[in-house]
Amino acid sequence: GAPIEVDLSPIAEGQIVRVFWRDALIFVRHRTAEEIEAAQQTPLSDLIDPEPDADRVVEGREQWLIIYGNCTHLGCVPLDFQGQYRGWFCPCHGSVFDTSGRVRVGPAPINLPLPPYEFVDDTTIIIG
Ligand code: FES
Repeated sequence: GAPIEVDLSPIAEGQIVRVFWRDALIFVRHRTAEEIEAAQQTPLSDLIDPEPDADRVVEGREQWLIIYGNCTHLGCVPLDFQGQYRGWFCPCHGSVFDTSGRVRVGPAPINLPLPPYEFVDDTTIIIG
């Protein structure tokens, strides 16, 4: 599939938008300051798949989280803003993800992965 451009400017702080690239669901989340802080302050030792938030976002643009939207267990679509960590909750078997899309409660074995993307300017990304 061809790369797609996503205009971030209409996405309000605290909102999650869903886009599709190569038939894959992608969440584009405009994180609040509290959500960023929660992601950054989580000790790696608390994580099932330890990965710093800084490795999952672009430096200086930490408000934008861009991740694949299918659960890494068996592919269901997790529900936005649900679960203990205010990330996502997967209704199929109960996996919980945090505001960085990292798995906090299984059975999902790994974090929600990042698609390839880059910023073109402050409010535009290209996925692909
Ligand atoms: Fe999400 Fe099983 S598919 S927990």
